[in-house]
Amino acid sequence: MPSLFDPLDLGPLQLPNRIVMAPLTRGRATREAVPTPIMADYYAQRASAGLIISEATGISREGLGWPFAPGLWTAEQVEAWKPVTDAVHAAGGRMVAQLWHMGRLVHPDLGGGQPVSASATTAPDYAHTYEGKKPYGEARAATRDDIRRIVGDYERAARNAVAAGFDGVQVHGANGYLIDQFLRDGANHRSDEYGGSVENRLRFVTEVLEAVGGAIGMDRVGIRFSPNILSQGVEDSDPVGLFTALAKRLEELSVPWIELREPRPGTSFGSAPTEPVSGAMREHYSGRIVLNSDYNGPSAQARLDEGVADAISFGRTILANPDLVERIRSGAPLNQPNTRTFYTQGPEGYVDYPRLDEARAA
Ligand SMILES: Cc1cc2nc3c(=O)[nH]c(=O)nc-3n(C[C@H](O)[C@H](O)[C@H](O)COP(=O)(O)O)c2cc1C
Repeated sequence: MPSLFDPLDLGPLQLPNRIVMAPLTRGRATREAVPTPIMADYYAQRASAGLIISEATGISREGLGWPFAPGLWTAEQVEAWKPVTDAVHAAGGRMVAQLWHMGRLVHPDLGGGQPVSASATTAPDYAHTYEGKKPYGEARAATRDDIRRIVGDYERAARNAVAAGFDGVQVHGANGYLIDQFLRDGANHRSDEYGGSVENRLRFVTEVLEAVGGAIGMDRVGIRFSPNILSQGVEDSDPVGLFTALAKRLEELSVPWIELREPRPGTSFGSAPTEPVSGAMREHYSGRIVLNSDYNGPSAQARLDEGVADAISFGRTILANPDLVERIRSGAPLNQPNTRTFYTQGPEGYVDYPRLDEARAA
């Protein structure tokens, strides 16, 4: 069985190790969703990871509802990403952009107008806005024209990602956002060809992947899902059936890699998980599988040893440990993440977590 420190191919990408940086929203862009110079420092600090998946990045104004999150729909955003990807490459790393449409989870104050979703529904809980948390507004059901336009927005964002120097993209299909809203029968109540049967609910994500793959080459495309959790009010009556069918579709489409946020009971982040699906997906999908949630070095290696996962992604641990690869290799202690500065602006809790050599010198 492979070690975390063995190389791995993801399509044309050659990862020197199997420790992946999970996508982490950090809120350090501008209000216009333009990346800032400090983001180059932050990502370059973490370039020893086998792969960096960027923070979720808006494909359009309509689809982006997180304060100070970045986007990939304007020329200014593309220009401002270039120093970030350059810094990662100069530090020896590889980086893909996570492409994000939040669907009904965009508050009208941010997205400009009523949010769009698979069906006319309202998300539970509260949205993040520039004026603090506010109740979500009701989304309208996407028309066929909306769907065509949104698929086009994903395609444009993928082209922009390549123009901005990313090595590929990861489509964000997890965590209750737009693609998840189409996939699961808890949020998709449509009666047209995009709703009802599993086959119909797979149509939107299939169209997105075909468009993105057609634009930049499917070998540069990955996708993330969170099959076994109820996320932001989005759940399915039969997750194993849905995600097994999805695995077959991903195989047909030749998507080279997927990442599954698949917490186990006792997880320290998010809602209580149901039955895992990675094993069932593995039977129908021959690409690379990256597994996520609550791993440390030994538990990640144990997971690789089981043979389902090809790599493991780390969220909060790499957030707090820029040199996580070295720390896992040497068994060194880990810095603890500071939840207070997860989404704040500025350098504190962002670029000031010490590396091992700095900690020793201090
Ligand atoms: C601060 C923070 C921001 C996150 N942002 C994103 C995101 O932009 N996209 C995404 O798919 N998941 C996001 N997540 C989920 C993480 O990628 C990951 O699934 C989660 O932290 C569990 O992994 P961990 O136990 O290794 O931290 C975020 C999590 C945290 C803590």
